[in-house]
Amino acid sequence: MSIILSPSILSADFSRLGDEIKTVENAGVDWIHIDVMDGHFAPNITMGPFVVETCKRITGLPLDVHLMIENADNFVEAFVKAGASCLSVHLEGNANIHRTLQVVRGLGVKTGLVLNPGTPVESASAVLHLVDYVLMMSVNPGYSGQTFQPEVFDRVRRMRALLDLINPQAAIEVDGGVSVENIKGLCEAGASIFVAATAIFKYPQGAAEGIRALRLAAD
Ligand code: DX5
Ligand code: ZN
Repeated sequence: MSIILSPSILSADFSRLGDEIKTVENAGVDWIHIDVMDGHFAPNITMGPFVVETCKRITGLPLDVHLMIENADNFVEAFVKAGASCLSVHLEGNANIHRTLQVVRGLGVKTGLVLNPGTPVESASAVLHLVDYVLMMSVNPGYSGQTFQPEVFDRVRRMRALLDLINPQAAIEVDGGVSVENIKGLCEAGASIFVAATAIFKYPQGAAEGIRALRLAAD
């Protein structure tokens, strides 16, 4: 099965970000995942539009920007201007998510809706017609290297069934603890886009081998 791999640079060595991105690009990844956190929505502060702009200068790969911030409405335009090709916003904490998704769509980028592990799958149904993909979190937002929450298998299956009714073209992305142990099961459940930080940038034999191992395991 053909999958999209989106390495999260949250676990990259930022002292040589250019080389880290080039390594995964040369190893054949599809997107680059950028985790944006504001210290309010998520208990960490990470990257802003400036880092997205920097990545844009390093690579021609689509930049998959995951906004874990409050008041995402105020920032979506800045991230698109900085070079995001895919922009995902959380169902939680965005009071006007229907409008936010419409705004993202209107900016001409792939539009993603994110659900935390504790958010009921069915609560997304009223806005699923507005998305290109749904990002199912398999950890709580904040850090790379957290433990994969296995209930996401069933949540992906239920989200796939809901999307098949409402928006069959939309894809499912999974983010958090994705590894060679769970990627196959996630594919079988209906996901096709995978984010991984630790399993790629911290792979003992190097990122290129980590990518190879993930693709092999997904097959
Ligand atoms: C979590 C982030 C993830 C994280 C993934 O808040 O959204 O993208 O960096 O890291 P791993 O793959 O190590 O769980
Ligand atoms: Zn992410």
